[in-house]
Amino acid sequence: MAALIQAHTLSKIYNRHQADEVRALSEVTFSVEAGEAVVLQGPSGSGKTSLLSLIGCMTRPTSGQLRIGEKEVSRLPEPFLARVRRETFGFIFQQLNLLRDLSVLDNILLPLYPADLKTAEMHSRAERVLEQLNLLEKQRMKVAQLSGGEQQRVAIARALINQPEIIIADEPTAHLDSTLSKELLVILEHLKKDGKTIVFATHDPYVYQHRLVDRRFSMHDGVLRKAE
Ligand SMILES: Nc1ncnc2c1ncn2[C@@H]1O[C@H](COP(=O)(O)OP(=O)(O)OP(=O)(O)O)[C@@H](O)[C@H]1O
Ligand SMILES: [Mg+2]
Repeated sequence: MAALIQAHTLSKIYNRHQADEVRALSEVTFSVEAGEAVVLQGPSGSGKTSLLSLIGCMTRPTSGQLRIGEKEVSRLPEPFLARVRRETFGFIFQQLNLLRDLSVLDNILLPLYPADLKTAEMHSRAERVLEQLNLLEKQRMKVAQLSGGEQQRVAIARALINQPEIIIADEPTAHLDSTLSKELLVILEHLKKDGKTIVFATHDPYVYQHRLVDRRFSMHDGVLRKAE
């Protein structure tokens, strides 16, 4: 069976043909199988976020091909790309990007609004993720009133509400203490057991040495290599 994510000679140049042109990715070729957890390591500015943004269909490559499942996405027009993004990926970022004055439930439901689901289906999905992340009792509270760990779990619940096949996590532990980092990895391990595919970028040895990681890659100046 073909790999779930297949990148072939992907390059990304920002501000092309301008004085401040940056070659962020140079001919990156790699693939990720369904159900794998893969880590991208590498110094600041080496291209990790750029690669995750391409894989997650948030931007398009300057050249090269990218297949997600059966779909070649590298040249898809934005509305189609947005649809693949919404239906396939859950994103966990270093910044939680929660709306602090909205309730836990409303934050979790937000990604569903363009999806045109029936209210009953929205609420049954919300209930599942709230239960999965032990947030049922907090669902009416404003995010601003929650602890850091609870907020982290809300961000994960929001990433899962679209039932994504692939989780993209960009420096997910960068603002977490060691207890919260452990908690996050336990949750990600459960997701992996559920069959999700996970692609991380991280500097954090706790993450890249974790038992859930199947393969590691390192990035330098936009070039991807297998890590030792
Ligand atoms: N939107 C953009 N416009 C112009 N240049 C960008 C843009 N995004 C990233 N870059 C540049 O591309 C290069 C790679 O950046 P990227 O964010 O992918 O690195 P990173 O490995 O994620 O770094 P960090 O570990 O600091 O998060 C850097 O030189 C950065 O300045
Ligand atoms: Mg980054």
